[in-house]
This record gives sequence, structure tokens and C-alpha cells, in this order.
Amino acid sequence: MKFIVTGANGFLGINLVRYLLSLNHTVIAIDKNIKNLLSIKVSKLKIIETDLATIKKYSKNFKNVDCIYHFAALADLDACYKNPVETVTQNILPTIKLLELCKLFKIKKFFFFQHYIYKWFGGRFL
Ligand SMILES: NC(=O)c1ccc[n+]([C@@H]2O[C@H](COP(=O)([O-])OP(=O)(O)OC[C@H]3O[C@@H](n4cnc5c(N)ncnc54)[C@H](O)[C@@H]3O)[C@@H](O)[C@H]2O)c1
Repeated sequence: MKFIVTGANGFLGINLVRYLLSLNHTVIAIDKNIKNLLSIKVSKLKIIETDLATIKKYSKNFKNVDCIYHFAALADLDACYKNPVETVTQNILPTIKLLELCKLFKIKKFFFFQHYIYKWFGGRFL
């Protein structure tokens, strides 16, 4: 299968990239910082260094993709609360762009993991 992993240089992303490659899948790894990914030398890995804000420039890579794992985000919750504009720019708008590409390329599986959709309040997730 062919997968796209965003935030692929981060903690969750790089571990998933390694796992999918170990199963012999094709992986397109997207991140604005690709330093950790460069240590993976596997022909089935394609690395794209970009901010998701400009992901539409790379839309041809979405052809025949089976599944997207979307990890790219401002992951620190305190930072999200302190920087709402950056949170919208880094987390919400890129997610919408990816969903638009899913629609365009008929990609039916889209998983995302962002904490920002929750609000920690009084010990409960709302
Ligand atoms: N780590 C956990 O235990 C955990 C648990 C549950 C959910 N999550 C959520 O999963 C997601 C990933 O977590 P993580 O721990 O791997 O975070 P991380 O900070 O290690 O990785 C995030 C990656 O996304 C990239 N990125 C951020 N914004 C980008 C953008 N606009 N364009 C391109 N790349 C961008 C960063 O460069 C980074 O490599 C977050 O949304 C986090 O809230 C994490």
C-alpha cells in the first residue's frame, strides 16, 4: 500500500514511517523539518520537506495514495493555548487542505491525532 505520513520527522511520525517501511509499504513522509528522516535509507521512502501551508504544490504525490496519517501539528498544548493564531495556521488550516486533497484524489482513509481538538478542563476531556 501507499501511505502519506505528515509530521513524519516527529516523535509519532518517524516511528510509524519506520514501521510501515518494515512491512514493505511505500511511504511519502512530509515534514517542514526532515533532519531525523534523512537517516532512513530505503528506496520505498520519499521525503518531502515542506510546510503543509504549501502542500498543494505537491499534490501530484497524492495520486494512488491509500491512506494518510496526519501527525503534523503544533503538538504542545500550552503553546496552542498561548498562540491561538499559530494553532489555527499550523493545525487547523493544514488539516483542511489535506482533507481537500483526500476528496480530490479519492483517498478514503485519513487518520489524525491532534490534541488540540480536546480541551482539558477540571480533569476531564470535553
Ligand atoms: N506524542 C504523544 O504521546 C501523542 C499522543 C496523542 C496525540 N498526539 C498528537 O499527535 C501529533 C504528533 O505528536 P508528536 O509527539 O509526534 O509531535 P512532534 O512535535 O514530535 O511532531 C510534530 C511534527 O510535525 C511537524 N510539523 C508541525 N507543523 C507542521 C506544518 N505546518 N507542516 C509540516 N510539518 C509540520 C514538526 O516539524 C514535527 O516534526 C500531535 O498533534 C499531538 O498532539 C501525540
